[in-house]
Amino acid sequence: MIKLDDLYFKPFISAKEIDAAIQRMVDEIAADLGDEIPVFVGILNGSFMLVSDFVKKYPKPCEVTFIKLASYEGIKSSEDIQRLIGLTQDLTGRTVVILEDIIDSGKTLAEVHRIFKNENVKSLLIATLFHKPEAYKKDFKLHYVGIEIPDRFIVGYGLDYNGLGRDLPEVYQIKTTQHMTSIVLFGPPGAGKGTQANFLKEKYNLVHISTGDVFRFNIKNETALGMLAKSYMDKGELVPDEVTIDMLKAEVEKNADAKGFIFDGFPRTNAQAEALDAFMEEKDSQINAMVALEVDDEILVERLLERGKTSGRPDDADEGIIRNRIKQYYNKTAILKNYYTAQDKYYGVDGVGSIEEITERLNKVIDKL
Ligand code: IMP
Ligand code: MG
Repeated sequence: MIKLDDLYFKPFISAKEIDAAIQRMVDEIAADLGDEIPVFVGILNGSFMLVSDFVKKYPKPCEVTFIKLASYEGIKSSEDIQRLIGLTQDLTGRTVVILEDIIDSGKTLAEVHRIFKNENVKSLLIATLFHKPEAYKKDFKLHYVGIEIPDRFIVGYGLDYNGLGRDLPEVYQIKTTQHMTSIVLFGPPGAGKGTQANFLKEKYNLVHISTGDVFRFNIKNETALGMLAKSYMDKGELVPDEVTIDMLKAEVEKNADAKGFIFDGFPRTNAQAEALDAFMEEKDSQINAMVALEVDDEILVERLLERGKTSGRPDDADEGIIRNRIKQYYNKTAILKNYYTAQDKYYGVDGVGSIEEITERLNKVIDKL
């Protein structure tokens, strides 16, 4: 992944694939033109790299020249094309091959056709390394196309974003989701997970997704997924992973502008963790870390018994029940600890100390992600 100015881009087309595409174009054009000496016209700025690599591969004599047009502002094709440097030589009777790095809406190409209208060239052929068919709004014929790509902004190999990225030898595509920091938060009962989640949410502008809350919300509001989940619960069955995952996905989609997410109470199984990875990947994002608050069992028991005295929660009053809940927690989360450790994403954080001290420790971990 790379960052140019304020945007993030991911690897999209390798230098090797670009090279192979150019070779195919060269072979086709050379075969079509026979012994004719063509004039290759590069459209600056973007095409400088293509023209250079292309003519080095071209097996026969040729001429090279450039015209300079500009149409893009940021990541949007703009209405007016500026002609910065026009044709500087007479091309009457010549076979001209336009070499474009990319043809997007086709506005630049329309300008190229305008430029050549009165030049009396023998033929005008259009070759472009990249083409976005979905964005193309003209009907000029494109004689040679290297690689068709979806209508998403790319950089590299001559193409820029705000002037940056032209130098990259490979092509990168803009990320759907810009940078996010998402964590899976774990902690045994009594570790102070809820308190810390609230601080993290504030400090990092994250959306806290607690599976328990999401379930309660969906059931209370009788959403389709909530009703489905309830139908299993009413039968005393476990809610299938898919239903849980779909509920969480809906929750993530609701917060499209989030800087990231804190997943709390999810995933619980390897299958869920894999589903979550796949979902984040779809969003051009990822789980950055599993953060687990670590607190010694004896301290947890002490804390919970203390809480039980005032909270009135019956499950906080019985030491046997408390110990069992803690044991359950370790049984269930051990698999996930292994899952995220294998990805080098497990961070255990000492959960003993004052609330501020623990927050400080968590911040240190998250700041480095
Ligand atoms: P068109 O006039 O819309 O066909 O766009 C052509 C020009 O816009 C190209 O020569 C590029 O300079 C620029 N352009 C189009 N798409 C992209 C892109 O995805 N990344 C960077 N520049 C682009
Ligand atoms: Mg261009």
